[in-house]
Amino acid sequence: MTSINEQLTQIFQDALVKSFGEEFKEIDPQVTTARDLRHGDYQANIALPLAKKLGKNPREIAQIIINNLSLDTICEPPTIGGPGFINLKLKPSYLESQLKSLYQNQRLGIEKVEDADQVIVDFSSPNIAKEMHVGHLRSTIIGDCIARTLEFLGYQVLRLNHVGDWGTQFGMLITYLKEVYPDALTQADVLEIGDLVNFYKQAKKRFDEDPKFQEAAREAVVKLQSGDEESQKAWQLLCDQSRREFQKIYDRLDVQLTERGESFYNPYLDDVIKALDEKGILEKDQGAQCVFLEGFTNKSGDPLPLIVQKSDGGYNYATTDLAALRYRIKEDNAKRIIYVTDAGQSNHFAQVFQVAQKANFLPDSVEVTHVPFGLVKGEDGKKLKTRSGETVKLKDLLDEAVNYARKDLENRLQTEERKESEAFINHVSETVGISAVKYADLSQNRISDYIFSYDKMLALQGNTAPYMLYAYARIQSISREGNINYENLGENIQILLKEDTEIELGKYLLQLSETIKEVEKTLLPNRLCDYLYELSKKFNRFYENCPVLKSDEPVRTSRLLLCDLTARTLKLGLSLLGISVLERM
Ligand code: ARG
Repeated sequence: MTSINEQLTQIFQDALVKSFGEEFKEIDPQVTTARDLRHGDYQANIALPLAKKLGKNPREIAQIIINNLSLDTICEPPTIGGPGFINLKLKPSYLESQLKSLYQNQRLGIEKVEDADQVIVDFSSPNIAKEMHVGHLRSTIIGDCIARTLEFLGYQVLRLNHVGDWGTQFGMLITYLKEVYPDALTQADVLEIGDLVNFYKQAKKRFDEDPKFQEAAREAVVKLQSGDEESQKAWQLLCDQSRREFQKIYDRLDVQLTERGESFYNPYLDDVIKALDEKGILEKDQGAQCVFLEGFTNKSGDPLPLIVQKSDGGYNYATTDLAALRYRIKEDNAKRIIYVTDAGQSNHFAQVFQVAQKANFLPDSVEVTHVPFGLVKGEDGKKLKTRSGETVKLKDLLDEAVNYARKDLENRLQTEERKESEAFINHVSETVGISAVKYADLSQNRISDYIFSYDKMLALQGNTAPYMLYAYARIQSISREGNINYENLGENIQILLKEDTEIELGKYLLQLSETIKEVEKTLLPNRLCDYLYELSKKFNRFYENCPVLKSDEPVRTSRLLLCDLTARTLKLGLSLLGISVLERM
């Protein structure tokens, strides 16, 4: 189904050719939804830049375009606003026919892309032997939403978990465990992740204080990296331990990931250095192998290097990312690679991308994007901590959200004098709690820091998951009340738009596909949240003003169709956010 925007764009392009000739065929007429809804629903902004180009008055240009537009079935006669915007108001009859097609379309008008390129979303990516923290939670939630959206659009998406499973931390950890808890290196399941994290902290302390320990830890790394069997086994055990804990969180969040940790790229690291050398961009600086960067300088203005091999011969985070990039392009055939991490890593990625470009690792046909996000803060505006001042464990954080949801539900059941089964209460609390955490994260512009507040994210009013879930459940209750099966409303359906709130809702329902395309382009999930929130509000306004079950035919069925269409839109939109709906709550 062609979106309204696309239909209008086509008609404007035809008008531009008619008005000014063939060479204006490719020009984008700049059709957008109207900035001020009093003047119309859509606007085309092309007259202004065109007037500049042609050396004419923009209002005059706008008039010429209007004279050549064939829009009669779609819009009321266009008007010219301000300096030369062309304002378009859609006709209810046109909206009605569009809504009918939308209703009959399984995918709610969202077409699959024509060439289903391979896309990689690199997200979540916690580190072995360390706690998965709220930053990883953000990456997991945002990355999953991006992956779901691109998958729905028809792309082949590889969801990669670039786990930090390699590096000096293992030397420390193995050396330390050998001393204090050797069983952990030979037997599965003897450690809790919490223990592992603590051991890691103690090992790090020893490493910083004791030169002898340092030496031993370095030797252990070399041994591990040279493939020593005993070390490999110990390393595997430690990884398994962390992996099991991570998986619990993924299961709970319903997030799929393919693990391909840093260690995977080991065999390809030497080649990275070789290729950089052959390209002639590798330089030695204080013993380390580097590539000097443009646009990154130190305090005195000298160019900064990206270190790709340390003076002791070891490779680092950047080397691995360069190897990963090459692998993903060559072996996975990725055309778009998306990295979801906190904004603190923006420089890292800008540098890696720059070096990849210089080294010809990155063909023009491949797009790499870092998707940065801000910090999660406590309500005091500082880094999120537990009451006793420790880092918050993700499991506890999710449990707490579910507990809040359960308390809310139990209160409500009491006031409404409703009785529900334990299974129902468990299911609803878990869904609402987890959805609230996800939605709170996704509804913020990801670039900003966000304040983590259980009260806010679980509020029944406002831009929250519970509000959205209620809107959906409310629509389902209408059909229950009226004994309606939405699937049996008949083949020959008709949607009629009479009341203002009805027209507003109808128009907005038609904007889903444009919204999804915007998310595809900007990788900003909050655009979708805003849309769903606005849709729920418009639905509620409609529902307050327009009786549904009590209306006479054919209005009754038409309104039921609008209800169902809203529910389907909410369900689809929420599913792209990783949130599943509840029929009752
Ligand atoms: N493990 C890293 C961290 O915890 C994130 C990895 C992101 N992905 C990448 N290809 N560098 O910060």
